[in-house]
Amino acid sequence: PPVDPFDLVIFGGTGDLALRKLLPAMFHRFLDGQIPEHSRVVGVAREALDDDGYRASIRNALVEAGGAKDKIEQFLGQVHYRPLDARKDEGWDDFAEMIGTQPDHVRVFYLSTSPELFVDICQRLGHHGLNEGKSRVVLEKPIGRDLASANRINDAVGQYFNESQTFRIDHYLGKETVQNLLALRFGNALFEPLWNAEHIDHVQITVAETLGVGRRGAYYDRAGALRDMVQNHILQLLCMVAMEPPYSLAPDAVRDEKLKVLRSLKHIDESNAAQLTVRGQYRAGAAEGQSVPGYLEELDGDTKSGTETFVAIKAEIDNWRWAGVPFYLRTGKRLPARVSEIVVVFKSVPHSIFNADAGPLAHNRLVLRLQPDEGVKLWLTIKHPGPGGLRLRHVPLDMSFAEAFGVQQPDAYERLLLDVVRGNPTLFMRRDEVEAAWKWADPILEAWAASNEPPRPYTAGTWGPSAAVALIERDGRTWNEDTD
Ligand code: BG6
Repeated sequence: PPVDPFDLVIFGGTGDLALRKLLPAMFHRFLDGQIPEHSRVVGVAREALDDDGYRASIRNALVEAGGAKDKIEQFLGQVHYRPLDARKDEGWDDFAEMIGTQPDHVRVFYLSTSPELFVDICQRLGHHGLNEGKSRVVLEKPIGRDLASANRINDAVGQYFNESQTFRIDHYLGKETVQNLLALRFGNALFEPLWNAEHIDHVQITVAETLGVGRRGAYYDRAGALRDMVQNHILQLLCMVAMEPPYSLAPDAVRDEKLKVLRSLKHIDESNAAQLTVRGQYRAGAAEGQSVPGYLEELDGDTKSGTETFVAIKAEIDNWRWAGVPFYLRTGKRLPARVSEIVVVFKSVPHSIFNADAGPLAHNRLVLRLQPDEGVKLWLTIKHPGPGGLRLRHVPLDMSFAEAFGVQQPDAYERLLLDVVRGNPTLFMRRDEVEAAWKWADPILEAWAASNEPPRPYTAGTWGPSAAVALIERDGRTWNEDTD
């Protein structure tokens, strides 16, 4: 349904996320006729720009996002800029006047800045009455860098915006395939009876990127892969796979079930981190045929960083449904392919009736591909066609969403930004979810810090340190290798 006119204010408006994701997402919604005429997108940052300067600086990003020149110019007409420093008074009165405090007007404040500024920004928004009525605040992940700092941020933001106004974004929840998990799991009678420890051998979640940290080094080096990807995106995917059926899609019905999963995650700490986790950091190597520098060379100057750019973890969920089923998680920068997928590996049949020369029996595998080519594959065992005896083959039932539906999947941010405008928090993280995720991540970070061991090096363009392969092979299993 069309939305009411709104203002979307992006703090960090000149940053990487704004240029790469937020503005192109709004532009795509504009091309689809979803942005009402009197809505505005307002970039805010410290740089001394005016509207035209800002428009000039983002024009390229919109050209790359596709769309005819006249459409770009039309969209840019709704884009504005205000130079503001969260820590200085200057300019805030004008800004407040521009945005206005009408109770019925939807105001979305997207905090795409370093979390250290969240509190200052919210304080000033509150001071100017911009937190009233239909105002909403969007917090980018990671919320804090551990439980204590997340609590400080949530408490401080909570003084100005109540929970129903606070949208903690995890853009993985906006990806089509992630939402499709709900349809697949709860819209088919086929899977749910098998969706438990009795029938599932293990689950793998891989989020692999070919990119390095590029110009995000300053942020990334303080975060690392566990805080950047695992505490949020990967745990959210794990929740969608593992949660009990919610009683409906009402926001809290879904989030209550996810929370239970997060709270059931088995603790990893100093006593077992060495067995259950692997950290890596890329060295110089190759990406997409080009030689690329190592992580330390990419960080200007700091050659001692012990930040991980790769993590593999054997996680477990201690509850009735999942007792004893490992969830192998891995993510990293500068891996050989951009692949994000969830692989559910079923147990093998209890007994083979086939001759030894029929070939080995394999596990059924359900592969949900999030990117790059979104789709679902179900691997089955069949008879190799033709004469020559009964030989077994393992083949996929393969559905590519692009081929099946012939449409380009919208970017996750397109969906999520308009959900904020509509005030629908189903696909956003509630405060208690973020806290439960930190409660699991904190002891891992502490164990790593205490061990004093640097992350294991891996060559850019490989699947991380060999210890990550050992982590799963030790259990007689292998990472899914079908990356076609
Ligand atoms: C972001 C992380 O949240 O997700 C980045 O901060 C990462 O480091 C990105 O590159 C990956 O998102 P996507 O949608 O490209 O898989």
